[in-house]
Amino acid sequence: MKAPFTWSDEAHETVSRMCVSRWGIRFRPGDTHRLRDVSECAYLASGDADLGVFFERMRALPDDDPEMQAFVSQLVIGETSFFRYRPQFEALRSTILPALIAERRHQRRHVLRIWSAGCSSGEEPYSAAMLVSDLIPDWRDWDIRIFGTDINPYALRRARLAQFGDWSFRGVDDETIANYFRPVGARTRFLAHPCRELVKFFLHNLATDPVPDREHGLSDLDVILCRNVTIYFDESLTQTLADGFRSALAPGGWLLVGHAEPDPAVFARFEPVEFKETLVYRVPGGPASSELPARPAPTLSTPIAKHATPIPVDRSAKAPEPKLPTLVEARAAYDAHDHVGAAELLAAIASRPGADPTATHLLAQLSADEKRYDEALYWAFRTLLIDRFHAPTLMLMALVYLERGDPSHARELLQHAIFNNPRAPEAHLYLSMAHRALGNPDQAERSKDRAVRIARAHADEWASTDLLPVERPRIGLAKD
Ligand SMILES: C[S@@+](CC[C@H](N)C(=O)[O-])C[C@H]1O[C@@H](n2cnc3c(N)ncnc32)[C@H](O)[C@@H]1O
Repeated sequence: MKAPFTWSDEAHETVSRMCVSRWGIRFRPGDTHRLRDVSECAYLASGDADLGVFFERMRALPDDDPEMQAFVSQLVIGETSFFRYRPQFEALRSTILPALIAERRHQRRHVLRIWSAGCSSGEEPYSAAMLVSDLIPDWRDWDIRIFGTDINPYALRRARLAQFGDWSFRGVDDETIANYFRPVGARTRFLAHPCRELVKFFLHNLATDPVPDREHGLSDLDVILCRNVTIYFDESLTQTLADGFRSALAPGGWLLVGHAEPDPAVFARFEPVEFKETLVYRVPGGPASSELPARPAPTLSTPIAKHATPIPVDRSAKAPEPKLPTLVEARAAYDAHDHVGAAELLAAIASRPGADPTATHLLAQLSADEKRYDEALYWAFRTLLIDRFHAPTLMLMALVYLERGDPSHARELLQHAIFNNPRAPEAHLYLSMAHRALGNPDQAERSKDRAVRIARAHADEWASTDLLPVERPRIGLAKD
């Protein structure tokens, strides 16, 4: 049986050290609860019998292991939005990009490279893509690459989908939204403008992967945006990274960091250039700042997309703000096999603070139905962050591990589910499957008998409409 989770100074030390060495992320004393919560859920979701074994195993897992990826993606804060920190986008639009574009046109070398390092769900590199397509009418004839990288594979998956909820658009003017986005469903907008294809997303860890990274195109860059990422790093890593960025930039290239970023001394090898309300760093060389052709200074209310080729948008779809979706609607969509619609509604519900764990659970179920098991584990993990003892989630995770050929991990999760809810017959049924896979036919039979007994005894306690998908075997068991 699993030993209970206990958080100690030693446990804190172990997890903190792992976060620093793998991702460079330092947790401040105020973040301890986050570290503890995520560790507890990762432990509960694991097949390990005690914390010592769990920490030992986690330490040895590679970064690309699904369990490790689910862990880090719960730890990091992915807060972002389009054109976030507007003065920097104004500097890009009014001066930095026009100068680069003019220089390249002059050289007849129509090439542009931009890297958004720590891009979360993609709003930052897509903002750059919108700007570029706005400033270069013939952008399709150029060789333009915009890279978006992060350590969170789930954020990158969302980025590739290019669908965004209202929160991503705070502070974005209606004209930009209308010119670049199309509504999909009730609350989401899709970046429909073809500039979307300029952006390529991939995993890259700023603490351990090379910078520059020539193999992946992260060299000879014109602009690097690395904002609100190094705030978690220590000074020595930030310094190494600043030096790496300098080498990754072409002469005259630009580095844009967030306004809460560290001591400017770290960027001493760059030339600081002041713009309205922001400071930007530049690699010496290339066209001198004084020669940079300035556009008429835009005001903060100037739409970014002033010159964009408008895409046809059904304006009638811009109806008054739709009401918030409910779980009943989401479940109805799920039951009607409208998985895309259900996922959209569930994601909107799950993004609200204090969300019902059923929303994240159903997202896990949806992912598992489509055999996206890593993603199923991610959503399951998020469910456990809301409710440690969510039995349907523990069962769903067990099924995922059974499917993946790891019955002992499944058995551990099911025993935990049964400990929390001994009257869940399906947990005993799945446990019997795990025992069978482990070569214990007698235990398998006993668990199955128990499942049938419980299901019969409580058959009148549930109405089938209230069941979560993973609980449906109850009905079959009761009839058995
Ligand atoms: C607060 S978000 C910033 C997003 C965007 N740059 C912005 O300012 O709007 C920080 C992002 O940095 C990422 N991150 C943290 N440590 C990282 C590392 N070692 N390598 C790459 N990305 C990292 C996180 O996953 C998260 O998505």
